Amino acid sequence: MNDFSPESFEKKDLPFVVNRLSPSIGGEILGIDLSKPLDKKTKDLIYEALLVYKVIFFRDQNISTKQHIEFSKNFGELEIHPFAPKKDLFPEVLVITHNEKSRGRENTWHSDVTWRLEPSLGSVLRMIEKPDHGGDTLFADMYAAYEGLTDEIKEKLEGAIAVHDFANFRNRLIQEGKSEEEIEAFNKQYPMPEHPVIRTHPDTLKKVIYVNAAFTQYIKDWDPEESTQMLNYLYSRASIPEYQCRFAWQDNSIAFWDNRACQHYANSDYWPNVRKVERVTIIGDRPY
Ligand code: SIN
Repeated sequence: MNDFSPESFEKKDLPFVVNRLSPSIGGEILGIDLSKPLDKKTKDLIYEALLVYKVIFFRDQNISTKQHIEFSKNFGELEIHPFAPKKDLFPEVLVITHNEKSRGRENTWHSDVTWRLEPSLGSVLRMIEKPDHGGDTLFADMYAAYEGLTDEIKEKLEGAIAVHDFANFRNRLIQEGKSEEEIEAFNKQYPMPEHPVIRTHPDTLKKVIYVNAAFTQYIKDWDPEESTQMLNYLYSRASIPEYQCRFAWQDNSIAFWDNRACQHYANSDYWPNVRKVERVTIIGDRPY
């Protein structure tokens, strides 16, 4: 049986080398050229590496937008983000640019798009313009965070359901001048979904904490104060260094994270300098 541990994975006959960034999360994959189509064995092993390390990294990948998309498509159908800026002619490529006029906003621990009924499987992020210093991305292992909970809390959370919402984006859309009708249309298209507070990963079948400070609103049917207290406690688990790894970007670096297993935080320490990344996201399934 596959225990999805780095130790077991690294004993396999691999067509690449993995350098771990920490004991449990983060693996830098060396010896793969992402500009070329992948054979089935390599593709399957890259996906397995994603399950094992929760986030994997590639260096020196001077690839085109089309190659970025083609690589991501190996792992599923791609998502189009309804609110974020997109690259011209490539609606599946989300562009995140920050500079003097726009401070980084992705510096809250989060899983992407949990306001969707089917939040993403994962994202493939490519560095386009790197600040000279800073702008690292941190990742937190939410399996380890779950394992670190006391038995009492684990028991309390069994069957608990959280409600998520795109409130942050809605506020931004209102500020940008979207009409009430437009906002209402988005509300209808993305009604606040309910996901288990502790989800089971569909491939590893392990449990993870699946609430995040960016999009989770409250725990359904709980006393509001108790819900807020518990959520704040669960959010705080991501900021424990023992659960984390930290990736220092270089030009042509790529990160591919499992959005079901980890949370991420983009350090915005580089302001007022420019940092630009492009993200392609793979559709996931309904959490259970
Ligand atoms: C994100 O939150 O999706 C972007 C992460 C980053 O810019 O490093």
